[in-house]
Amino acid sequence: MDVNILDAKNSLLNKFISEIRDVTIQKDSMRFRRNIERIGEILAYELSQDLDYESKIVTTPLGTKIVQVPKNDIVLCSILRAGLPLHTGLLNYFDDAENAFISAYRKHINETEFEIKVEYFASPSLEGKTLILTDPMLATGQSIVSVFEGLKGHGTPKEIYLACVIGSTEAIELLKKHFPSTTKLWIATVDNKLNEKGYIVPGLGDAGDLAFGSKL
Ligand code: URA
Repeated sequence: MDVNILDAKNSLLNKFISEIRDVTIQKDSMRFRRNIERIGEILAYELSQDLDYESKIVTTPLGTKIVQVPKNDIVLCSILRAGLPLHTGLLNYFDDAENAFISAYRKHINETEFEIKVEYFASPSLEGKTLILTDPMLATGQSIVSVFEGLKGHGTPKEIYLACVIGSTEAIELLKKHFPSTTKLWIATVDNKLNEKGYIVPGLGDAGDLAFGSKL
């Protein structure tokens, strides 16, 4: 798997990452959602450099120009509910993508153990398309792996990209085992610890709650 970690290079991205992590700034849920969306836009831009391009003749009021435009048939797939702001960011740039939404949640067996429940699937055919699977918080990696398994009945994509905000090194190792070796991961930043509840440390806390409020 090809792993691209974006925060190694200094850019405005690092300000957006610092704001979603900051225990005070992240309490402004509108800013939190918007920062995740902005990170999604940056991931889309960076990943777009890896797509396939074709020539297109554009007619301007003064003449014509040949430009290179992406030609991939993209399906953007996100996991409900924390993935919604990241999905919006990617869709802002890949504005003609098809969209898939899957629900996945942690069903706790006890305080520290859980299994991933994947229940709701709304996806177009993936056959021959470019699948961009997004997950803002790649903690254990089990959710995105379960979603990928569930999507297998929807056709075989031509290629797979994963777009994430914060990941753990442990999750990246799990993904390498479960996704085809040609899969490309684009991730804003990586932390190397998980706590006993499966949260990324230092991470940012619960992305779904920060974006949309706490749940029962
Ligand atoms: N989901 C989150 O929102 N945060 C984590 O740290 C792990 C999973």
